[in-house]
Amino acid sequence: MGEEKKSIESLSSVGETIAQRLHDAGYSTLESLATAKPQDICEVTEIGESKAEQIVEEAQAVTEAGEFTTADKILEKRGDVGWVSTGSEQLDNLFGGGIETQAVTEVFGEFGSGKTQLAHQLAVNVQRPVEEGGLDGKAIYLDTENTFRPRRILDMASAANLDSQETLKSIFIAKIHNTDQQLLMAEKAQEIVGEENVRLLVVDTLTSLFRAEYVGREVLAERQQKLGRHLLTLHRIADLNNVAVLVTNQVQAKPDVFLGDSTQPIGGHVLGHSATNRIYLRKSKGARRIARVVDSPELPEGEAVFAISSEGIKD
Ligand code: GTP
Ligand code: MG
Repeated sequence: MGEEKKSIESLSSVGETIAQRLHDAGYSTLESLATAKPQDICEVTEIGESKAEQIVEEAQAVTEAGEFTTADKILEKRGDVGWVSTGSEQLDNLFGGGIETQAVTEVFGEFGSGKTQLAHQLAVNVQRPVEEGGLDGKAIYLDTENTFRPRRILDMASAANLDSQETLKSIFIAKIHNTDQQLLMAEKAQEIVGEENVRLLVVDTLTSLFRAEYVGREVLAERQQKLGRHLLTLHRIADLNNVAVLVTNQVQAKPDVFLGDSTQPIGGHVLGHSATNRIYLRKSKGARRIARVVDSPELPEGEAVFAISSEGIKD
């Protein structure tokens, strides 16, 4: 961290043509190559397998991706973690300061529980200065449900005293129509992140297109594998670029279970174990919503109440 980043062109195994193909496929950093599978590179570029292996090996050697690290180094990197305020002090306290960078946070809940509203709010708040709970950065928003609303961003920007045009211009939106495009745009996001000081990446909703495209038991494994690959990309962006990644996930109410947890996150175990932090939202009276932290490595389990107002997320 902090050192000047070397480009993929610095590898002796990467010439001009290959560099271009790698860039086009979203492999624009040494780290992305070092953590890639050679087969994946072959699949999305027209680079042969042995060449791809050579590139990955060289990238690993240069970036030390195959090396062990010591706990003090990890702590040092954790020291760079930043938080994006949700707009509610109660929620921020519950989350240890807000939605954190270097992590993938999954927000799951029923329809209308506030997942999309929270995502909009974070896309605005990330632009605020650090003293005001932001990260002075921009946002990328992958919208799979066509529920991104610039009007709502304007409401929230004006409540936060941000310039409306600047705020809109600092959110990069991609409308996503299928899972192939979803994976592709996450890879592309990795390129913009470095160039544009992006500090928040939203995927709303992570699982909806996967559910629509892969129906039935016989394609479950395939679906989970692809979802797993997508999540790996998201983790890589969070980790390598110090970005806060927020993914949303709808849950279906299971009326037959009336003791304990009555809802099941879509995506099953692959998703369950691969988000860093998981937050469950549920509806309460009127505009009130309740958030619960579920199995986070660092945050204690607990609940907080917040509200969705015309100005956005509030206590
Ligand atoms: P799904 O995507 O359907 O799973 O739901 P979600 O969890 O994304 O819900 P969303 O964030 O869209 O929350 C919808 C709720 O937010 C609505 O029921 C309203 O209560 C509230 N809401 C949305 N827009 C506004 C607004 O402009 N003003 C106010 N006051 N509340 C709003
Ligand atoms: Mg939504």
